[in-house]
Amino acid sequence: MFSLGTEGLIQPGIQNFYDATTGTLSYVVYDQPGGHAAVIDCVLGYSTVSGRTDTAPSDPVLAYLAAQQLTLSWILETHAHADHLSGAQYLRKALGGKARIAIGRGICDVQAHFAPLFNFGADFATDGRQFDHLFSSGEVFDIGALECVVMATPGHTSDSVSYKIGSHVFVGDSLFMPDYGTARCDFPGGDADLLYNSIQQLLRLPGDTRLYMCHDYKPGGRELRFVSTVDEQRRNNVHVRTGVSREEFRAMRTTRDAGLSLPALIVPSIQVNIRAGQLPAAEDNGIVYLKTPVNTF
Ligand SMILES: [Fe+2]
Repeated sequence: MFSLGTEGLIQPGIQNFYDATTGTLSYVVYDQPGGHAAVIDCVLGYSTVSGRTDTAPSDPVLAYLAAQQLTLSWILETHAHADHLSGAQYLRKALGGKARIAIGRGICDVQAHFAPLFNFGADFATDGRQFDHLFSSGEVFDIGALECVVMATPGHTSDSVSYKIGSHVFVGDSLFMPDYGTARCDFPGGDADLLYNSIQQLLRLPGDTRLYMCHDYKPGGRELRFVSTVDEQRRNNVHVRTGVSREEFRAMRTTRDAGLSLPALIVPSIQVNIRAGQLPAAEDNGIVYLKTPVNTF
């Protein structure tokens, strides 16, 4: 069993995995070797050229779970990602189908927006039922002996949540490392004011709280970094360090977002990730198709 932290909570074991193609961090969080684990934000590779999926980003996660003899209880998403396909279904199936796939309750808004855009039809439910569980803000759940608290952190997307386990918080795309700042707010349901609020909520946590990023793009060619403290973010975050007002943040975010191009995998990612990582059903010839709406994104 891992040691008790300052709050008297059991601190998790944490292992990171990095998908260099999309700059995504995935994490295994567990109570003890041989115990229970959650995987946060796992990745399925995808080529828009060939239409082929690729399990290489999630295979090291599986190998780690096996090596540590961990039982996977949860597959957690911090939000419906627009830059990579979720590996949730692959991981669950590979481990016997028992892990529960979960996301924030705001996924229903994301589904309601994108289902008509992809013309999914009336049989596509927009109540989140594709997931095993939808988290409400403040909800507490267990990963074996670990206690995890869900914090709604909307702004980048309306379904964004952070997962607080002991003094470790997995913040999704609410924050990036201090030298990169914050995530875009221009996707449907994104809102710079909401993101400012969510970040302030994170930065009110104790200064030594460790924040784990969902992405790192190695700005300036530096080494990979994926964890910072609240103190470090307060002091150094290029977008939201202490002293940056809501108005300054909103103006910066709006200007910056206007110049960003869309993520390379946004079209396949959205239509897979709002189905909890499930590909669409095969058509009557046995082949699975993903759609590309023309002149829409
Ligand atoms: Fe994202």
